Amino acid sequence: MTAKVIDGKAFAAEVRAKVAAHVTRLKEENGITPGLAVVLVGEDPASQVYVRSKGKQTVEVGMNSYEHKLDADTSEADLLALIDRLNKDATVHGILVQLPLPKHLDSDLVINAIDPAKDVDGFHISNVGLLGTGQKSMVPCTPLGCLMMLRDHHGSLAGMDAVVLGRSNIVGKPMAQLLLGDSCTVTIAHSRTKDLADVCRRADIVVAAVGRPEMVPGDWIKPGATVIDVGINRIERDGKTVLVGDVDYASAAAVAGAITPVPGGVGPMTIACLLANTLTACCRANGLAEPEGLTA
Ligand code: GUN
Repeated sequence: MTAKVIDGKAFAAEVRAKVAAHVTRLKEENGITPGLAVVLVGEDPASQVYVRSKGKQTVEVGMNSYEHKLDADTSEADLLALIDRLNKDATVHGILVQLPLPKHLDSDLVINAIDPAKDVDGFHISNVGLLGTGQKSMVPCTPLGCLMMLRDHHGSLAGMDAVVLGRSNIVGKPMAQLLLGDSCTVTIAHSRTKDLADVCRRADIVVAAVGRPEMVPGDWIKPGATVIDVGINRIERDGKTVLVGDVDYASAAAVAGAITPVPGGVGPMTIACLLANTLTACCRANGLAEPEGLTA
């Protein structure tokens, strides 16, 4: 079998187009423009690239983008004061503090200072708790993007066996909650899991989010299974730097039913879902109907 390639780049463009259409209606019918504030502390090169990309795409879908770039030695008090201002600012519907933060700042404290209704990353403990109890919440962007692709490919996920590789707060744990919410039988596997290969081989859906290049070989994949590869790893190959996922693409694509490539799979969906979350937050803040198909 050769797997169907799930084109995250094309899917993300569709999501952005839906967001843009909804934003146009919000402006015309309600006089509201959604606004996203992104806070970057320090000069981590990768974070700068992400933040630039977020700002660009925010403007492209017709939203307001507010970038706050702070020095690496910004005090916790100053960062919390900025978050407080953004929480109170009615033109700001979404707030994202780019992670990782410099070491002297307490990420948990900072994230939990964001108004949960504006927490478009879905990292605030209130949103984590709401998701875990099946209540309306803001859902972390990467798992939301994975869920959208799975629903689009399968329709209903009910009764499917899903294995999530990785137990991070940003991807693994919320991904497992979302799959459970869609009535999958969910296993969260990690570095201490026994017989990882066997656990994987039972799965109709594998979501790999461990951050280890090409860790999952094709012979861990059940024939016909759907493979969602969240990994983005830079490695040297044949003297060149290349991007690879957590799954060995060539061998997995030979047995899977469907697979996301790296690059061009999950990656582009993350920012698209950030825009979708900002729109959702804006609609909720104004008591308006939420966009269909853009939330969990
Ligand atoms: N750094 C890497 N990924 C993310 C993300 O999804 N959100 C935030 N806030 N920071 C990140």
